[in-house]
Amino acid sequence: MQLLDGKATARSIKDEIAEEVEMMKNGGLRVPHLVAVLVGHDGGSESYVAYKIKDCEEVGFKSSLIRYEDDVEEEELLKCVNDLNNDPEVDGFIVQLPLPKHISEEKVTLAIDPAKDVDGFHPQNVGKMAMGLPAFVSATPQGIMELIKRYNIETSGKNVVVLGRSNIVGRPMSILLSLKSNPGNATVTVCHSRTKNLKEICQKADILIAALGSPNFVTAEMVKDGAVVIDVGTTRLPSDKTKSGFKLTGDVVFDEVSPKCSFITPVPGGVGPMTRASLLINTLKAAKNQM
Ligand code: GUN
Repeated sequence: MQLLDGKATARSIKDEIAEEVEMMKNGGLRVPHLVAVLVGHDGGSESYVAYKIKDCEEVGFKSSLIRYEDDVEEEELLKCVNDLNNDPEVDGFIVQLPLPKHISEEKVTLAIDPAKDVDGFHPQNVGKMAMGLPAFVSATPQGIMELIKRYNIETSGKNVVVLGRSNIVGRPMSILLSLKSNPGNATVTVCHSRTKNLKEICQKADILIAALGSPNFVTAEMVKDGAVVIDVGTTRLPSDKTKSGFKLTGDVVFDEVSPKCSFITPVPGGVGPMTRASLLINTLKAAKNQM
């Protein structure tokens, strides 16, 4: 069994990006600028956004954080999006999800200029991605593709099973791996809450991607010998053993599944850091496109 070390891989990517930023600066260009919009004080969102800002600093990007309280009106948030769309100093921006119930995430996502949509959530980017055209791809699936690429994992002709069909992970993941590309060319099955015979389907997977958000869902009996297992789960379970008071828990029971695997991602230190690195990749791309 070999660990897919997302932390180390993300480190390499960040070093590569930092080098490019240095070259941009030396060439008299301004550095890429990412803006994060955060509504409310959800614990998960707070920490994700803080990481995004920290990552920008690490590679030499400019970053800004715009905060709103939970009761911000949809109209005000849409105005903020519009201002960011028109601000030539902003290369890319994200509106951290989830948003409070009175605000339509769909409306907000549609309002973002696809050229600045470094989350890759806008239908124009999703559509282009699905056609295999250049597009911003959402960070988690892109990070997983990059991990697969850098570890030279063969996907062509393989049976891939994706657990979960969310717009930001499961579905784009399934599309990317079925595209006529490398990595890609896989035979992909998407499973979800209505899937029958889930265990039997998982047992046929050469590559199993767990993106359900159900802690410890994937057990050893569901996994084929020699499979590649990618764990996207990041549920914050309460814990009295950590300083933060929670323990990041994956969708896979790592201890029992890992001995059967050829490759497996740990949680933490697997997909998470790759997701973060992907946002930097997209922001650099947005900045280059705008220059
Ligand atoms: N909420 C959970 N993941 C993400 C993400 O990648 N981007 C944004 N904007 N919100 C999220």
